[in-house]
Order: sequence, then structure tokens, then C-alpha cells
Amino acid sequence: MSRTLFRTKNVEQSIRDTEEPEHALKKTLSALDLTVFGVGVIIGTGIFVLTGKVAKENAGPAVSLSFVIAGVVCALAALCYAEFASTVPVAGSAYTFSYATLGELPAWIIGWDLVLEFALGTAVVAVGWSGYIRSLLDNAGWHLPDYLGSRDGAHGFGFDILAAALVLVLTAVLVVGVKLSARVTQVVVAVKVTVVLIVIIGGAFFVSGANYSPFVPPSQPVAAAGSLKAPLIQLMFGFTPSSFGVLGIFTAASVVFFAFIGFDIVATTAEETKNPQRDMPRGIIGSLVVCTVLYVAVSIVVTGMERYSKLSVDAPLADAFKALGHPWFAGVISFGAAVGLTTVCMILLLGQTRIFFAMSRDGLLPRFFSHVHPRFKTPHRPTVLLGGVIAVIAGFTSLSELAELVNIGTLFAFVVVAIGVVILRRTRPDLPRSFRTPLVPVIPALSVCASLWLMLNLPTETWLRFVVWLALGVILYCCYGRRHSRLATRNKS
Ligand code: ALA
Repeated sequence: MSRTLFRTKNVEQSIRDTEEPEHALKKTLSALDLTVFGVGVIIGTGIFVLTGKVAKENAGPAVSLSFVIAGVVCALAALCYAEFASTVPVAGSAYTFSYATLGELPAWIIGWDLVLEFALGTAVVAVGWSGYIRSLLDNAGWHLPDYLGSRDGAHGFGFDILAAALVLVLTAVLVVGVKLSARVTQVVVAVKVTVVLIVIIGGAFFVSGANYSPFVPPSQPVAAAGSLKAPLIQLMFGFTPSSFGVLGIFTAASVVFFAFIGFDIVATTAEETKNPQRDMPRGIIGSLVVCTVLYVAVSIVVTGMERYSKLSVDAPLADAFKALGHPWFAGVISFGAAVGLTTVCMILLLGQTRIFFAMSRDGLLPRFFSHVHPRFKTPHRPTVLLGGVIAVIAGFTSLSELAELVNIGTLFAFVVVAIGVVILRRTRPDLPRSFRTPLVPVIPALSVCASLWLMLNLPTETWLRFVVWLALGVILYCCYGRRHSRLATRNKS
């Protein structure tokens, strides 16, 4: 039994599978494409929306430190991801990596976990996008009825039609092919980075030193005492649940972590990369560095422009300019944010379909989903299925709790990847690795601890939801994947 659950897929076999013509994806992406891809998905709702919320509720001006903490956690994970992606250059990211190292059940759990991360992440970003579009429409004097505007604003029934429509349009774009998506992405990423630079450079002229005092607001107890909303770590160690102070900086880091999600998705496109051994680590680490620098700069500027307690929660970057009497700047920023969130949504959706594709190719999900389109060479079946489901979720979803669930899922994947690097070094020291994680096992161990630390700073209820989702996955595996797995069928024949 345990031999079945922990059977591993040989790395060479993983690479051979991708070469079967019926299941092969086109190899078109370069290191630059990957970096643009990375920046395209990384900068999004996290910086455009969550910055204001956590500065106001958890960390004050010290939110810039939260970005640094989250960035360090991601950098440690990126060093592990890069080694894996350059060793096992196959679609599916952490899922494929763990299949080659930890065994089938852990791999299934990771794949299942990544479905949660990407599907809900896509929905969260689509809803954020819809908010910015509605704000632009409002400027033009057009108002959507409440029940079609958002899930939150409506009394009773509410369906966010813009968010759902965005997901459906992007699904169609992805079915047509990654080449087109990459080209569209490059233009949109340019717009997004320009807007972020406008915030940093333009905003720097309005910074007032008084807004940084106190930089770390003193700790305040919150009403969450004893409830499931308090971070797990505070309940575990019997702290009074509190906002601000040093603990608040960590709570904020576990939320703004969402702003970094996406660099791992670069690894999901390894199979479509021309020279994954060289380009993959460059793409992952390059995009992470660019984003960390921009986030820290944006958060320093925005909390310097407006007192943290007055920052807006919906559109903090644009509203800080509005509050200082510059609505024109605010309009440009809102427009750029809406454009930028489009690529985030698209790439999250792309990463999601590639994982589903890889799981189906291995027989853990029905093989029906792993046929590529004869003309477009894209996995059109999972793309259409997941696009439809996510559109519905996006229509009926409200934001913040979902973002926390996405974070816990992603951090869990980081833990598994870091462990996998160490295992693969022992079990397959012979494999060529164009990028080697430095200081193994120290860096992977630090990565595991750092990711677990952020996970513990997430609310207890997020942990409970996550456990339920994983339990559902294990049941599915026992009922379907274990018997239909390609490894099982191969072993029989
Ligand atoms: N990092 C992405 C964002 O901030 C998911 O929206």
C-alpha cells in the first residue's frame, strides 16, 4: 500500500512523456519572455489593493517591512524552485517536482493544492479588476445595477458580471495559444510597470515625514480574541490577538505575500521554454527581484503621502493622489491597474490549466484532459473547463478570505518544494542541474521554516478551510487517481 502511495515518477520518464507528439506543448518562450511573464503575474491585486488594507489594519507605515519579509520568504523558495525547474523542466511546477521526489500521493496533494491556489487566485484578481473597471465606469457616469456589480454590494443575489466576463474572454485567448498570450502580456506589463513607476516617482514629491511617525504603531488588542479569525500562532501561544506592533508586521506579511504569488508560475511553463536549464532560473529570480524593489518603494511612498489610518482599502494607490487633489493621476493609475490585473488573471489561469494538464497526463485525472489541440497545441479541454468554473466562482466571490486561502496553499507548496530539493539531491545526485540551490540543506531548511512561519500568521479559519480542501483531495485520489495513475498501469503491463 505505502509503496503505491509513495511510488515516484522517474525524472527521465517525466521528460520523455512531454515529448510524445500527442501530448507535447510548443517550445517558444525565452528568458525575457519568462521574466515578463513573471512580472506580468506578480504585480497585481497585492500591491494595488492589499497594501492599503494591511497598512490601515495591521502594520501602519511598517508595511514596507512586511513586503521585505514576504520577499525574503519568496526569495528562499525561489532558490529552491529554480533548481527544481532546471532539473525537471516539465509542465506542472511543484506538482511534477514532488512526483519525481516525494511520491504519488504527496504529488497529488500538491497538485490539488495548486488548483486551489491558482483557481481562487484567478477569481480574486478578476474581482479586483472588476472593482477598478467599475470605478472607471463610474467616472464616466455609467453605473451597473448592484446585483450585477459585485457580490458584496448586492442585497441578496449578486453576481459580478465583469469579473466572470473577464475570465471567459481570457479563457478564449489561452485556447488560441501561449504565443499570442505572451505578446499581449508584454504590452500590458509595460503599462503596469509604468503606472507603478508613476506612483513611486510622482508620489515621492508629496511625501511628508510626519506620516512615518510612528513607523511601527503600538500594538492594540483586537476583538478577534479567541475567535477563528485570529492568526493561528497567536492562539497557539496564548497571545492576546492584536493588530500593529511587531506581530502586526508579520500578520501583514502573511497577507501581502499574495503580492508575490506568481513567480512560481514561471516554473509551470518550463516545458514551453526553449532552453529551460538556463532560462528558467533567470526568469524566476529576475522577476522576483524586480517586483520586490518596486513593492518596497511603492509602500514607502504611499504611506508617506497619506497617514496610514486614512488610506483607502479599495484603491489605495489611486486614492492617495485623489486625497492630495490630483484626480488626473488617480485616473491614470486606476486605468493602468485595471489593465495590469488582466495579465495577472490570464497567467494564473494559464498556470492552473498546465497543472491540471500534467495531472491528467499522468492519469491522476481523466486522460481526456491531456490531449493538446491539434492546431493551437494548447491543452484546450482543461482550459475551457476550468475557465468556466472560475468564471462562476469569480461572479459569486468576495475577496479577502479567498486571498488568505490562496496564500496558505502557496506556502504549503513552497514547503514541499524545499523538501523535494534536498531529497532529489540524495536520490538523484547524478541529474544535470544548470542551477543549484546554494548551501543545501541550509537554504531549503530556512525556506521551510520561513514559509511555515508565514502560514502560522494566517487566521485559524483559513487553516480549517485548507485542511477540509486537502481531505477532499485525498478522498478523490483514493477513489480515482490511485487506480488510474499511469504509473500503476505501467507497473501492471
Ligand atoms: N501576485 C499577484 C497579485 O498581487 C497574484 O495579484
